[in-house]
Amino acid sequence: MQIIDDYAAIDEIVDLWRRCNLLRPWNDPINDIKLARAENGAVLCVLLDEKLVGATMVGHDGHRGAIYYLGVDPEYQKSGIGNALVTACEDWVRARNIPKINLLVRKENQGVMDFYQKLGFEDTNSICLYKNLDPKQAKIEKEQKTNWEK
Ligand SMILES: CC(C)(COP(=O)(O)OP(=O)(O)OC[C@H]1O[C@@H](n2cnc3c(N)ncnc32)[C@H](O)[C@@H]1OP(=O)(O)O)[C@@H](O)C(=O)NCCC(=O)NCCS
Repeated sequence: MQIIDDYAAIDEIVDLWRRCNLLRPWNDPINDIKLARAENGAVLCVLLDEKLVGATMVGHDGHRGAIYYLGVDPEYQKSGIGNALVTACEDWVRARNIPKINLLVRKENQGVMDFYQKLGFEDTNSICLYKNLDPKQAKIEKEQKTNWEK
């Protein structure tokens, strides 16, 4: 197993995340990858015999590290790849002298809580708030979310 941070085929990464049900219409994964790679982040990819089988985004905001879009090809899940990716994210963050790491679990994805708890992650006992800073996009996003939940 090889973990690299410069996998060039962005379309393959996005397709992997799509198959892991990680994409939502209000997020642009291609832009997210470019932004992460441009500053304070990376996209870590797992290759098995040169085949992409896992990918995640890691970054930091100067205070805490963060993991987004953690996904393992459904055909390769439950064989330790997710565990290896999270460890690689922790190493990436630790190497930047940042002592803590956050991640978000969508309410509808409670099934992965056991996975993260085994890796030592805990509930922050906080509510995560966010705001879309572009009012036009905020309106579109609200509609997309309403439609998604239907
Ligand atoms: C969550 C995910 C990344 C885990 O990857 P994985 O390669 O299957 O995980 P691993 O094989 O490294 O599993 C590590 C441990 O967690 C357990 N585990 C993995 N997925 C689990 C799940 N969904 N529920 C409960 N336990 C799980 C494994 O059994 C294993 O336990 P063990 O060490 O006692 O044997 C993968 O299931 C996935 O891509 N899911 C879809 C996308 C997703 O929901 N991502 C998380 C977004 S917050």
